[in-house]
Amino acid sequence: MDVPPEEREQKLWLAERAGEVLASVPIRPGDTVFDFGCGAGAYALPAAEMVGAEGAVHAMDCDLSRMDPVADAAHSSLHAVHGDGTTHIPLEAASCDVGLLYDVLQKLDDRRGAMEEMRRVIRPGGVLSVYPMHLDPQQVRAEVEACGFRFRDDYAGLVMHFVRE
Ligand SMILES: C[S@@+](CC[C@H](N)C(=O)[O-])C[C@H]1O[C@@H](n2cnc3c(N)ncnc32)[C@H](O)[C@@H]1O
Repeated sequence: MDVPPEEREQKLWLAERAGEVLASVPIRPGDTVFDFGCGAGAYALPAAEMVGAEGAVHAMDCDLSRMDPVADAAHSSLHAVHGDGTTHIPLEAASCDVGLLYDVLQKLDDRRGAMEEMRRVIRPGGVLSVYPMHLDPQQVRAEVEACGFRFRDDYAGLVMHFVRE
């Protein structure tokens, strides 16, 4: 794949391929997905299409002003969650098939806390998908692995997929 060299361009390049990125996770019809720091829903919106009527996408952000496209989406599978700004995820343990941490870890004071919360809500055998923008990917990989996930593969060398053990 012809990945652009600059990180800023890579983010746009990835967002243009959101469906392909999510298919590589994979996200399937009927899945329950949690998107931590969803922003305007670049990934949550296509994920809602992919899980369909039988699935659910819980898209969380602590900044309501960024979430308008998610809150306004007339999609019955998409649920906007107003985060409290901590790493707490208001979902039951093992309730998700897939968790997304895309371009958000660099914003968090407690990265480990977020990864541990993701481990709590993702079922054993489920997938955590991470796009570690502005951070050293190898460092992030080691941190995720230390929280009980096994590295599986990546998309274009940019987005890492881990299996929840
Ligand atoms: C750079 S944006 C990325 C948005 C989206 N994931 C994407 O890749 O397009 C990071 C988002 O994380 C949100 N965020 C930061 N800290 C958060 C927290 N503790 N809980 C929930 N959202 C948070 C910010 O408000 C922002 O919308």
